[in-house]
Amino acid sequence: MSPQTPGPTAPGMDEPQHIPVLLAEVVEALAPKSGATYLDGTFGAGGYTMALLDAAACVVWAIDRDPEALTRGETLFARYPDRLHLIHGRFGDMVDLLGHRGVSGVDGIALDLGVSSMQIDDRARGFSFLRDGPLDMRMEKSGRSAADVVNTLSEKELADIIFLYGEERHARRVARAIVEARRERPFSRTLHLADVVRAEVRRAHDGIDPATRTFQALRIYVNDELGELERGLRGAERLLRPGGVLAVVSFHSLEDRIVKTFLRARSGAALRPSRHTPASLGNAAAAATFKPLSRRPITPSDAEAATNPRARSARLRVAERTAAPLLTAVAGGLA
Ligand SMILES: C[S@@+](CC[C@H](N)C(=O)[O-])C[C@H]1O[C@@H](n2cnc3c(N)ncnc32)[C@H](O)[C@@H]1O
Repeated sequence: MSPQTPGPTAPGMDEPQHIPVLLAEVVEALAPKSGATYLDGTFGAGGYTMALLDAAACVVWAIDRDPEALTRGETLFARYPDRLHLIHGRFGDMVDLLGHRGVSGVDGIALDLGVSSMQIDDRARGFSFLRDGPLDMRMEKSGRSAADVVNTLSEKELADIIFLYGEERHARRVARAIVEARRERPFSRTLHLADVVRAEVRRAHDGIDPATRTFQALRIYVNDELGELERGLRGAERLLRPGGVLAVVSFHSLEDRIVKTFLRARSGAALRPSRHTPASLGNAAAAATFKPLSRRPITPSDAEAATNPRARSARLRVAERTAAPLLTAVAGGLA
């Protein structure tokens, strides 16, 4: 089933609900304690935030770049007076966003990457290739839209984006078709773009809609999602106190590779000359800022994957901040 399959709707509600992915696993990893402070960098529908606040008498700072997520989240204030703080912004700026509010350290950070069900399912947001809507895709509702991108970038730039961020083998062909189609009529609607892509790329045996990869690529580009992730990981390294835990849920290989590579570098694994070199001989290993808490990524149970199709590609990586100073200060060049 496509990750764009419409999400469930609660009885009596028009709006589809977001089911938190790997929720129990994230809460177990962060192990909330009374008096501690946590950061939920991707508030969304508040699933992680609420679970943390319910698990212990802790404080949660929650960030989301989507103003609509925060508007919805305001109702949670009444339930958690003094313990919940909502911030509009990007998790890539977490150090400054919290620093300006007098917070310089936290005991755990959760990042649940990508978009929420509310964003995908709301055709007006323009993320969906199944429902017609404006070709928008901006989580922040400001800046350059997906329509601006497909109508103005060169064929080569579009091919590079679709290849790199969509891992689409037919990226050149798709880019050429987009440029030809926009000469006739500039893109403004999601289904116009989806139809142009589907005419170029055949449906694969796995049944995945051919528009999936091009839409993923544009969404990542429009929102600079991979740049945000890199800044967010470095921010977490600064903000976490020793013993604090970082939990990142990713949904495709590009994101997971960035998290895995960062944690490998920061745990010293990528810096030691070989696995036979004793850690005591390498400065970098001694200065590792993270200790991975599981060797392999944690994936959803069969039961979760069966009830929530959007969970199927999820991967959780968890690591604990050591007491070492920032690795950049020791090893240099690894910023
Ligand atoms: C998958 S949803 C999170 C769902 C949440 N864990 C829950 O249980 O309800 C991702 C959310 O993160 C937000 N988001 C994505 N990238 C972000 C970024 N760089 N900074 C802040 N928020 C971001 C999106 O707007 C969306 O609301």
